[in-house]
Amino acid sequence: MRTPLIAGNWKMYKTIGEATALVRDLLAELGPLTDREAIVCPPFTALAAVAPLVAGSALGLGAQNLYPEAQGAFTGEVSPVMLTDVGCRYVIVGHSERRHYFSESDALVNRKLRAALAHGLHPIVCVGESKPQRDAGQAEPIVTAQVRAALVEVPPDRMPDVVIAYEPIWAIGTGDTATPADAQAMHAAIRATLAELYGSEIATAVRIQYGGSVKPDNIDELMAQPDIDGALVGGASLQAASFLRIIQYR
Ligand code: PGA
Repeated sequence: MRTPLIAGNWKMYKTIGEATALVRDLLAELGPLTDREAIVCPPFTALAAVAPLVAGSALGLGAQNLYPEAQGAFTGEVSPVMLTDVGCRYVIVGHSERRHYFSESDALVNRKLRAALAHGLHPIVCVGESKPQRDAGQAEPIVTAQVRAALVEVPPDRMPDVVIAYEPIWAIGTGDTATPADAQAMHAAIRATLAELYGSEIATAVRIQYGGSVKPDNIDELMAQPDIDGALVGGASLQAASFLRIIQYR
């Protein structure tokens, strides 16, 4: 009943020319998708060039960040209105790189998530523990607290538009992926938290992606887990062949 979502987070990679070339390569091989959704999240500068290529195709479009105001004197920032205007349907919020390098707090992540929803975007909100936190046995309380903080004042009727991405920080860009069993355990804990907040019907409807060194050779066993509803893919989304194989998980 949950349509899995495979999302490519291109991070700060790809010029306009590189981005359009990659999208053309993806679209050349990608047939219609019926039982899953796939999107790319290029850098801001490439969104306007990629949007017309993916319009009407099996690939959707997302952004990697937003500022939680419709417009204003916020030099260097990009608003949710601008993202919908350029054709985005999704936006990543609270990626661990933004939390770490740009000091994004749980409160700011919550504002971004609510701004995305207010403007008709589907937020993909990232949560995840560090290695020391996992080693200290704190992974689950930390991650579920991040989920609660991200969802403050989000009403139940908006929850079906929210996607949660569980991305253990130690697995991002390291080649060191969580085992399918560990990922499943955390996804189940996140879903239990959603059930506490919103009841089991809504908890069952929300998609929870796994992210962190997702590759062609581990996607199948990750997607076989009952509470893993897709993947947020960094490095392996930058080449057509590997991202296609991940979209075509079995
Ligand atoms: P990775 O990145 O797939 O390169 O580990 C995932 C992410 O940061 O979303």
